[in-house]
Amino acid sequence: AAVGETGAFGFTPIAPVPHMVDEFTVPEGFDWTPILRWGDPLFADSPAFDLLNQTAEAQARQFGYNVDYTDIIRTSATTAILFVNHEYTNENIMFPAEQLAGDPERVRGVGLKAHGLSVVELTRADETSPWTPIVGAPLNRRFLDDTPYAFTGPAAGSELLRTATSADGLTARGTFGNCAGGTTPWGTILSGEENFNGYFRTPGTSETDLRYGLADEETVRGWEALDPRFDARSTEHANEPNHFGWIVEVDPMDPNSTPRKHTAMGRFKHEGANVILAADGHAVAYMGDDERFDYLYKFVSRDRAIDGDRAHNLTLLENGDLYVAQFSGDSPAAEIDGSGALPADGGFGGTGRWIPLTQNGESVIDGMSTAEVLVYTRLAADRVGATKMDRPEDVEPNPLTGRVYVACTNNTDRGPDGKAPADEVNPRTENRDGHVIEITEDGGSQTATTFTWTLLLVAGDPAQNGTSYFSGFPADQVSPISCPDNLAFDSQGNLWISTDGQPSTIGYNDGLFRVTLDGPERGKVEQFLSVPRDAETCGPVIHDDERHVFVSVQHPGEEGTFEAPNSLFPDAMKPAPLGGGVHAPRPSVIQVFPLAAAEPS
Ligand code: FEO
Ligand code: CA
Ligand code: CA
Ligand code: CA
Repeated sequence: AAVGETGAFGFTPIAPVPHMVDEFTVPEGFDWTPILRWGDPLFADSPAFDLLNQTAEAQARQFGYNVDYTDIIRTSATTAILFVNHEYTNENIMFPAEQLAGDPERVRGVGLKAHGLSVVELTRADETSPWTPIVGAPLNRRFLDDTPYAFTGPAAGSELLRTATSADGLTARGTFGNCAGGTTPWGTILSGEENFNGYFRTPGTSETDLRYGLADEETVRGWEALDPRFDARSTEHANEPNHFGWIVEVDPMDPNSTPRKHTAMGRFKHEGANVILAADGHAVAYMGDDERFDYLYKFVSRDRAIDGDRAHNLTLLENGDLYVAQFSGDSPAAEIDGSGALPADGGFGGTGRWIPLTQNGESVIDGMSTAEVLVYTRLAADRVGATKMDRPEDVEPNPLTGRVYVACTNNTDRGPDGKAPADEVNPRTENRDGHVIEITEDGGSQTATTFTWTLLLVAGDPAQNGTSYFSGFPADQVSPISCPDNLAFDSQGNLWISTDGQPSTIGYNDGLFRVTLDGPERGKVEQFLSVPRDAETCGPVIHDDERHVFVSVQHPGEEGTFEAPNSLFPDAMKPAPLGGGVHAPRPSVIQVFPLAAAEPS
């Protein structure tokens, strides 16, 4: 195989792209095209995108803004279902300054409807053609601020979930801050409600408000002026923020299904959740709480999956037990000096345990009810000695090996003056570049309560950071990588990592990287693509059997303004050159495909 070729999917890694460059870069021999862009029509009655005359009504019928978790579930050779999270909005580059200042009602209304989720049917002429959306297809759906969700599990209906919008505490409206996610073995989508706190104004004084970052401040988007439930200072809406911070499960196959929020999986700033079935049939979900010094969690279902019984498997995440991770290093503490330099045994590693917060579905935390443990999970985990991590983002089990990978994106507060000093599993003071942990459950059982761990990567540009570490693979033969965020696997068991934050750390645009996990090249990092200026790389979806790679390009041009855009991605590049008029960057789902596929053979 040529340099950069492993398994079935060969490519020559691209060179890193300097951070001011507004380009989407793929390897030689590949091309790319947008599948869906912000504002694209989804339904027969969707208005065409009209940048200068946006309305809430139009946005509700169009593809939403910032695209994060993405999956493409193939249902036949020429049909598929696309699922996307719309995490948040960048009003500064969505609207002209005069509308931002003079038309707040329009700005807030559009922003509200640009959040949520999308399900869209795709089609293609044949396996070598790029996918295109089917406008008006039966499964197409937008999940909006007024979409009803059902709570499941032990906290459903509890006092803590009762509000003016839900007298019985059994339902919620909408989902916000949806970051990463996962597709379950039974074909549903899990979506993590992450930075929900930014949507609410609260008293900001209680222990729980403080622990969840809820404050008595005008919110950035000012939705409390649109809908009083976003102002939780009043008694009637006091519990409204408790309706967010959950794992949401969506059935993309049933357009009439009610999406669910699973209380048994706990409430925190959920990055996402990825499920694997243990050998004994229990569904096990791995989950990160993306905050500096927050925790890594695992959920084990009470019931076992039944092969072929989808209706039963749809209930698996409704009941089960929640655990939080505690890591121990195997090197003397003196060898962990915060520099990130390897200890004398040549690697960062050790053992760990999963500490239960609930058992048999009930609280095991003294003084906290089951509902309190599930709604205020961070406070429960604080009590049991969980390990404070460097912002755990995507956590994903490798479907081929069962080993679990944790992307710790960064934590510049780590250190003696911060909330916690460096330790073996978070070995850098002022951790700018992040790291990736590999966990092996004891006995190879996903339901084990003990594990061993090692650091697969201590990220960075080796030319800038001498402690960058790639499992012993030569540092001069890897692509520089910083701020790992989303994870995916290809069919060969290689890990793919997308990044969020490289421009401000190593000075390169964010991108997508393949990491070899097994064999003599373990730790080799190869950059596959680079996203435009100011953008974060999300998704990713790897269909290596077809040599297709998909990413969602989130917040291109985020640091610019409407009048002085940093990016006009993708319209200035694909599918056709831009005409005259006013344009803005558009978060988009992108397909990368081999060049030959674009040409008739
Ligand atoms: Fe929305 Fe943790 O990134
Ligand atoms: Ca993320
Ligand atoms: Ca993932
Ligand atoms: Ca991130």
